[in-house]
Order: sequence, then structure tokens, then C-alpha cells
Amino acid sequence: MIINLIVAVDNLFGIGSCNAMPWGNIKEDMKFFRETTINKVVIMGRNTYVSIGGEPLKNRTNIVLTTQDSFENEKVDDKTSLLYKNSLEDAFNYAEDIGETEVFIIGGEKVYRDTIETADTIYITHISNNYNCDIYFPQFDKTLFLKEEIKSFMYGDIDVDIDKYSRI
Ligand SMILES: NC(=O)c1ccc[n+]([C@@H]2O[C@H](COP(=O)([O-])OP(=O)(O)OC[C@H]3O[C@@H](n4cnc5c(N)ncnc54)[C@H](OP(=O)(O)O)[C@@H]3O)[C@@H](O)[C@H]2O)c1
Repeated sequence: MIINLIVAVDNLFGIGSCNAMPWGNIKEDMKFFRETTINKVVIMGRNTYVSIGGEPLKNRTNIVLTTQDSFENEKVDDKTSLLYKNSLEDAFNYAEDIGETEVFIIGGEKVYRDTIETADTIYITHISNNYNCDIYFPQFDKTLFLKEEIKSFMYGDIDVDIDKYSRI
């Protein structure tokens, strides 16, 4: 299974504050996220699922990790589903069972920490500002990855760079 991580970070690698992303909606980044994950399996922690509004992302297989057993799976339409799994292993097995060869880990901190060591690719949107986050993307050894610049743009007066890190 190919493991992709996708994340937006501030200049201290902060990823969130009060269970939200403090920089608001960066349209260009949201477009990149959508284009990269569309029709794929996305895996997220339960806090992240709550933070995106408690609705599955359209045209994706949404897997939400939780230790609880009280949530109901849901098939929204032919291309959109919501599944709760109790472990990463169960999530990967499910993706494999439906014929997928890759998954996208979309947060949050806990799930990134649990997958960073085995990540094949990490897509990072670098937002060059400090947002006083209370939650962070884990440190990783960048020498193990090849960095490719995907796009750069301005968000107001803030530089934003989207980079792809591929494990060498
Ligand atoms: N900047 C970005 O790109 C980005 C992306 C995503 C999220 N975020 C931010 O990240 C924050 C949320 O991150 P977080 O670390 O608090 O939470 P999280 O990783 O989203 O969710 C943690 C919860 O997920 C469940 N979980 C995680 N790993 C599990 C596993 N291996 N097996 C079973 N259950 C598992 C547990 O839920 P139960 O308590 O139900 O057992 C756990 O309490 C928010 O601020 C959000 O805005 C930022």
C-alpha cells in the first residue's frame, strides 16, 4: 500500500489550533487538496473529521479512525462513503479489499505521527507565517526524501509553497 500524507503547515510546522486550521480557507490550497485526493481513499482521525464539519469529503472513500464502536458507516453515493475503523491496519486492509493501491493520510497530528515513518510521499503546503498553533506536524528526516516544488503563490501578503517529498 502506498502511503501519501498531505498537510498544510505554518512556519513552525503548526497544523491547527482549537481543532481548526487558523489560516482560514486558502482557495488555491483547497483546490490542490481536492485535485490530489479526488476519487481516492482518505484516512483521518476523528478530531479531523469533526474539524471538517463532520461530513464526508465528496467523491472520496472517507475512513475515520476511532477507538469507539458507536459510529455508523454511511454510503452517501456511488463515489462517496464514510467508514469508521479502529486501527490503521484495518483502514489499510479495507483500502486493499476495495482494490486501492494507495491511501492519503489527511490528519491530524496523531495520525501523521503514526504514519510519518512509513510515508512514501508527503505533500506539504508551507504557509510562511506563524499562527500560534496548538498542534504540529511531526519532524521528519528530509534527507530521506526528494523535494519537488509543485506550486507557489501568495495568500494576501503571505508566501505559500506546495512541495512534494518523495521517499528516495
Ligand atoms: N493543517 C492541516 O493540513 C491539517 C490536516 C488535518 C487536521 N488538522 C488539524 O489537526 C487537528 C486534529 O488533530 P488531532 O491530533 O487532535 O486529532 P486526529 O489525529 O484528527 O484525531 C485523533 C483521534 O482519532 C482517533 N484515532 C487516531 N488514530 C487512531 C488509531 N490508530 N486507531 C484508532 N483511533 C485512532 C482517536 O479517536 P477517538 O477519540 O474517537 O478514539 C483519536 O482521539 C485539528 O486542529 C485540525 O484542524 C490540520
